[in-house]
Amino acid sequence: FPLRALNTLGIEAAAHAFLSVVSITQLQQVKADLRLSALPRLILGGGSNLVMTQNFLGLVLHICNQGIQIVGEDADSIFVRAAAGENWHKLVKWTLAQGLGGLENLSLIPGNVGAAPIQNIGAYGVEMQDRFHSLTAFDFASGEVLTLGHQDCGFAYRDSIFKHHLRDRAIVLDVTFALPKRWQADVRYGDIAQELAAVGITKPDARDISSAIIAIRTRKLPDPAVIGNAGSFFKNPIVPAHQRDALLAQHPALISYQQQDGQFKLAAGWLIDQCGWKGKALGPVAMYQHQALVLVNLGGASGQDVVRLSQAVQADVLARFGVVLEPEPVFV
Ligand code: EPU
Repeated sequence: FPLRALNTLGIEAAAHAFLSVVSITQLQQVKADLRLSALPRLILGGGSNLVMTQNFLGLVLHICNQGIQIVGEDADSIFVRAAAGENWHKLVKWTLAQGLGGLENLSLIPGNVGAAPIQNIGAYGVEMQDRFHSLTAFDFASGEVLTLGHQDCGFAYRDSIFKHHLRDRAIVLDVTFALPKRWQADVRYGDIAQELAAVGITKPDARDISSAIIAIRTRKLPDPAVIGNAGSFFKNPIVPAHQRDALLAQHPALISYQQQDGQFKLAAGWLIDQCGWKGKALGPVAMYQHQALVLVNLGGASGQDVVRLSQAVQADVLARFGVVLEPEPVFV
């Protein structure tokens, strides 16, 4: 079964077996089938955080269930539940259309709802975990449907339990978000305030912020429908204060942000840019000309081409700055 149209990097790869999943019953049937349940599993959503390095000799479960609804409220929040197969940005637009703020900073992130908790998607000062209430997931080990709260998911920067302990074992079915009743704009991230000022908005509502972010992202980030990519290809590395100070002394233009624990997050895009990789190709892949953190498929790239460029960039950043870059997408 061909997977090229199902991964946003647009890599040619095939799966041995493939199932579009819309119900729990299907998952129970897979678990009960001795032949199918013995195969390695790949859980696929929007395919926007995935590097296929070879054909997959197992069963791909493409999660396609649909539905978004308000499911309740408490004193502080409105609860919105979305099926894992819903497109993320469609959910953001739906909440804004209902007059609900809270997800606007996460506008236009590619991928599906079910993938959002896996890597705890984040942008412009907000992470999914800030609006997360709970999720349900099918557990292949037990055959049960689990309900997991915030604490259970082990959220961290672009990380969760679903990348570790529960990888390929728990399938997210739906996610419930807690959207604030007393909404406040979050425009701490420099670019947003600038973008709003440019169009003369001083008291933005959630839709204004969404529009500003859509404008910024459209300028900086390639549209996966046009140029294959998986968003930021590396995480922004977090280093101890003494290492950041030493780097800053050597490179006064270094971009870093202090974290709550006193460590510093470095802008990986800047590090890669400084190494001369911005807009530079290696075979059919390149680091994007407007954002060096994004690896793009210029056409016909294989997973091995992606791995080669990724390793070349990592080696250069390590040699020049002594910093290890960790890829953000999942390699299969
Ligand atoms: N920079 C450069 N050269 C470049 C790219 C960036 O000098 O080629 C500098 C920028 O000028 C800026 C700094 O690096 O001062 C940071 O760049 P940017 O604001 O574009 O954000 P980022 O840190 O590169 C992160 C997320 C993005 C998210 C943006 C906005 C990660 C790995 N990436 O990127 O998330 O949209 O912040 O909040 O944390 C994603 O995860 O796929 C993603 C796109």
